[in-house]
Amino acid sequence: MKMAVIGAGIVGLATGAGFADLGHTVQCVDIDTSKIAQLSRGIIPYYEPGLEALVLRNTAAGRLSFGHDPAKVLLEAELVFIAVGTPTGDTGEMSLAALWSAIDRLEAWPQSDVRRIVAIKSTVPVGTSERVESRLRGRLPEHCLVDIVSIPEFMREGSSVRDFFEPSRIVIGTSSADVAEKLTQLHQRLPGPILATDRRSAELAKLAANACLAVKISFANEIAALAEQTGADYPSVAHSLGLDPRIGPHFLAAGLGFGGSCLPKDTRALVRLADEVGAPQTLVEAAVRANAMLPLRMVRKLEAAISDPRRRKVAILGLSFKPGTDDIREAPALRLIAELTRRHPGITLTAYDPEAGAAARKVLPSSVTVCDSAEEALKDADAAILATEWREFRHIPADDFKKWMNRPIIMDGRNALDAAALNAQGVVCIGVGRLPVLPKEFIRRAGELVPKI
Ligand SMILES: NC(=O)c1ccc[n+]([C@@H]2O[C@H](COP(=O)([O-])OP(=O)(O)OC[C@H]3O[C@@H](n4cnc5c(N)ncnc54)[C@H](O)[C@@H]3O)[C@@H](O)[C@H]2O)c1
Repeated sequence: MKMAVIGAGIVGLATGAGFADLGHTVQCVDIDTSKIAQLSRGIIPYYEPGLEALVLRNTAAGRLSFGHDPAKVLLEAELVFIAVGTPTGDTGEMSLAALWSAIDRLEAWPQSDVRRIVAIKSTVPVGTSERVESRLRGRLPEHCLVDIVSIPEFMREGSSVRDFFEPSRIVIGTSSADVAEKLTQLHQRLPGPILATDRRSAELAKLAANACLAVKISFANEIAALAEQTGADYPSVAHSLGLDPRIGPHFLAAGLGFGGSCLPKDTRALVRLADEVGAPQTLVEAAVRANAMLPLRMVRKLEAAISDPRRRKVAILGLSFKPGTDDIREAPALRLIAELTRRHPGITLTAYDPEAGAAARKVLPSSVTVCDSAEEALKDADAAILATEWREFRHIPADDFKKWMNRPIIMDGRNALDAAALNAQGVVCIGVGRLPVLPKEFIRRAGELVPKI
C-alpha cells in the first residue's frame, strides 16, 4: 500500500518506519523542515530505542522517505495517517491547531476515483473525527472519496518501535464495514488483538486508557504516602496488590508521579470534555491534583534530611519523564526543580540525564548546572534526588556515592535503588512509601541526617 504519515514525531516516525518495514511504501511529512532535513540525512531527531536502525534500513530499501510538502505524497497515498501533536492549549483545552492545519493541507488532494482513508492517530477529544469529516467534505471536490477513521495510538515512548510490532491492541473506529475490513487486513501481520468499533468509542478508548493509568499511579502514590505515615513498606504492599488478578501488577510503582507528553495533557482534555458535556470525572480530577503534589512532598522529605537547603548542593539524577527517552515534556524532574528553587532560592542544583541533557539545557534556568555525567553532578553534593530510573543509576556503587558526594544521602524518587544494600554500605537511601533505614554511620541531629563523627 502507498501511505503517507503527516507529523514525523515519535508516533508518526515509528508508525511510518514500522509500516515501511512491513513492505509498504511510506512518506512521512512534517512542517518542521529542519526535522525533515535531518531525517533525510539519516539523523533521528530524538532518542528512541531501535528507531534509527529501522529508519535507516527502510530508507535504504527505498520504502521510506521524508518530505514537507504533502501535495506530492497525496497524489499517490491511499492511506494517510495523521500523527501531529495535540498539546494542551493556552486555555487548558486540547489544542487541535496542528490537526486542522494538517487536514487543511489535504485539500490539495487530487481529484480521482480512488477511495482514500484518513486515519487519525493523534489523541483527540471525542467527536473530532466527525468534525474532520465535515470540514473535509465541505472543501474537497465532491467526487473525492475519503473515509475518516479514528485509529488511536497506544505506543509508549521509549518502546515505540517494539510497541508498533507488538501492539497491546489495535482499535479501528469507523462507520464503514469496508474500511474496517481493509484496515484489519493491513494490521493483520501485527500480533495484537484488533477491535473494530465506532469513531467516538475509539477516541474515548484512548483518553480513558490514559486517565485510567493516571488514576492508578496517583492511587499508588497516595497509598505509598499512607505507608510512610503508618510504618508500612509500600513496595511490599504493591507486590501484594499486583498479585491480585483483578488489579494486576502494572502502574503500581510509587514515585514522583506521571509526566510526559501524554498523561498530563490527556487527563486535562478528558476532564475538560467531561465538564463540557456534564459528566464530571471527579476521580480523574483528583488523580491530577494528587500528582501535582508529589514534587512538594519530595522537597519536604529532602528538608527533613538536610538543613537549610538554600546553602546546599543537591544533584538531580534523571531529567526525562521516564527512562528510555530524551523527552522532558512535563517531566516530574523539571517540576521538582521548579519546586526546589521556589522554596529554596539560592540552592545549588546540578543535574544529569543520560539522554535528555541537551533538551533540558534549553529549558532549565541557568542556575541549574546540567552535567555530562553522574559523577560530575554528584561531586560534592549534600544530597541527590533520583528522579528518573535510568538503569545507569542502579549501577553506581555505594563507594562512588561516598567518594563523590559531600554527604551520601540519596532520595530515591523511583524506588529504583537497592536501599538495603546501600544503607548497609554507609549510603543513606530514602525511597518512596518506606521507612528510611539509616546506615550505622549516620545519626539524626538538629533536624538533619549527619555522619557520626
Ligand atoms: N508520544 C507518545 O508516546 C504518544 C503515544 C500515543 C499517542 N500519542 C499522541 O500522538 C500524537 C503525536 O504525538 P507525538 O509524541 O508523536 O508528537 P510530536 O510532538 O513528537 O510530533 C508531532 C509532529 O507533528 C508535526 N506537525 C505539526 N503540525 C503539522 C502539520 N500541520 N503538518 C505536518 N506536520 C505537523 C510537528 O512538527 C512534529 O514533528 C499526539 O496526539 C499524542 O498525544 C503520543
